[in-house]
Amino acid sequence: MDIKEEINQLKKEKDAVILAHYYVRPEVQEIADYTGDSFYLSRTAEKLTCRVIVFAGVFFMGESAKILNPEKVVLMPEVSADCAMAHMADPETIQKMRDTYDDLAVVCYINSTAELKRHSDVCVTSANAVQIVRELPNRHIFFIPDRNLARFVARQVPEKHFVFNDGFCPVHESMKVREIERARRQHPEALTLVHPECPAAICDMADYVGSTSGIIRYAQDSPSREFIVCTESGVRWELERKNPGKTFYFPDTEPVCEDMKTITLEKIRDVLRTGNNEIHVEESSASQAAKPLERMMDLAA
Ligand code: 13P
Ligand code: SF4
Repeated sequence: MDIKEEINQLKKEKDAVILAHYYVRPEVQEIADYTGDSFYLSRTAEKLTCRVIVFAGVFFMGESAKILNPEKVVLMPEVSADCAMAHMADPETIQKMRDTYDDLAVVCYINSTAELKRHSDVCVTSANAVQIVRELPNRHIFFIPDRNLARFVARQVPEKHFVFNDGFCPVHESMKVREIERARRQHPEALTLVHPECPAAICDMADYVGSTSGIIRYAQDSPSREFIVCTESGVRWELERKNPGKTFYFPDTEPVCEDMKTITLEKIRDVLRTGNNEIHVEESSASQAAKPLERMMDLAA
């Protein structure tokens, strides 16, 4: 039996479903039952009726799935796969902002620890942040942890006053204007598609800025045949699968989230076999962190 057959058999035996983010390795996306961006995966985790979820993604994703689904077993193929940005804010600063602005909403990107979520008013992902912030009654918004997504949202919701935090995604932050300019010179017909975790200078070059699934949708709907894609390069697999005949270019310094790439078929098989790497979130912390996540689910269209 090859490893894919083994995984499929174990999935049936254990009543398990595999969720995978677009940034994981192609062979992991291929074996997954559901592949998507952060919002799609959170929503899917809530709808599933299986006993076990294997989350092929980084820690905050599995942790959020567990918080929203405390009755399910959530297994991480690689428990050390983490998102650096998830830690780039702190409860003390949140409290300081609450003391400063009496109508403050603390808006927390889902790429964050449970500890940050539990001090926040609402969670968002890159797919729903603009819509949710626009609908909040509060005028002052403290957006954590990502300064780049915050700036992208702030530009589209000018009626709100934003307080910025200094977090960022190291993968998107390190994209270089000169590399995008070079790609545009080489491929003058190509449209530039950018994830809002990128810095302002990259977003300003874009024909479209949006979440990973937004980028995929845009490429599918567009009559263009060529695209320069400024996000993590794992998305190439889904872009090419959904768009035969279209060509996708990435910056010369390939944007790779090493943590996402630590998830392998072998590790998925092993956690299915052993039940190791189960996520546990302490009950009181989980129930507090569930509130902003559930509010996101209610507010997101
Ligand atoms: P989305 O899945 O919301 O596009 O976010 C990208 C990301 O960096 C996930 O870690
Ligand atoms: Fe975190 Fe960036 Fe990796 Fe996404 S790509 S998991 S934001 S480090």
